[in-house]
Amino acid sequence: MRCQKASPSRKEETGKSSKDPSMTTAQKGVAVVAARMIPVYIMGREYEVPEGLTIMKAMEYAGFQFIRGCGCRGGICGGCGTVYRKPGDYRIYVGLACQNVVEPNMVLTQMPFYPANRASYDFEKIRPIPEEIFKLYPELFRCLGCNACTKVCPMEIQVMDVVSALKQGNITEAAILSFSCIQCGLCVSRCMGELPQYHIFQLARRIYGGKIAPRAKHLDDMVKKVSEGKYEKGLRELMKIDGEELKKLYQKREIEPIMAEENWKPADTRYL
Ligand code: FES
Repeated sequence: MRCQKASPSRKEETGKSSKDPSMTTAQKGVAVVAARMIPVYIMGREYEVPEGLTIMKAMEYAGFQFIRGCGCRGGICGGCGTVYRKPGDYRIYVGLACQNVVEPNMVLTQMPFYPANRASYDFEKIRPIPEEIFKLYPELFRCLGCNACTKVCPMEIQVMDVVSALKQGNITEAAILSFSCIQCGLCVSRCMGELPQYHIFQLARRIYGGKIAPRAKHLDDMVKKVSEGKYEKGLRELMKIDGEELKKLYQKREIEPIMAEENWKPADTRYL
């Protein structure tokens, strides 16, 4: 992330309609309206930004450009960790810049990456037993049980419960409980035991997905059909169709209804 514009107080109107597709999100924020301006402190400097913006949009409004620390803008990639304080509140907060909204006089800084020990391993050689995790991440047992990790998790994962499951040797439980982890690393930033929770949990999910969960039989069947060339003829036919025709065909395709019966089948069963 870098700051392109040094002006701490950017209030100019763009002169364009907010529906103009050439406008950036930040410009649209300006044009939509006459939002109340509030002061925020970004990396120690005061900026006036429209109320109601996410921290990410407010930073862009203030002139910052995200080069790192932003991926999806939707709370999924975990790239936009941010640390902030609110006036009159002794606590330090962490959250995702794309999900948290600015508040007057908040003091914030971006933390797109937080250093954490990440073990190297040859996954093929890892056995699906907890001892493999203990060996690679002995710091698992440094957990003090303070639960600070759970309090900061933007995905509301019970982080300490995942650590406990692993300490008890339950890889499956740990994988399931941490399924929605987005690897933002905010848990690590608050951990007094210096655990790299998100890397440990990722290993647990890899072991569970690759070596513990039952194999999906329908997937094996499908891979077999593909390798045996079942779809070759159909694909060759599609390749002969020109782009426009192909688009029409795609738009007309039969889509499985939401909440379809378990044994739902399309009308054309040639390629099942
Ligand atoms: S930009 Fe992806 S989580 Fe915020």
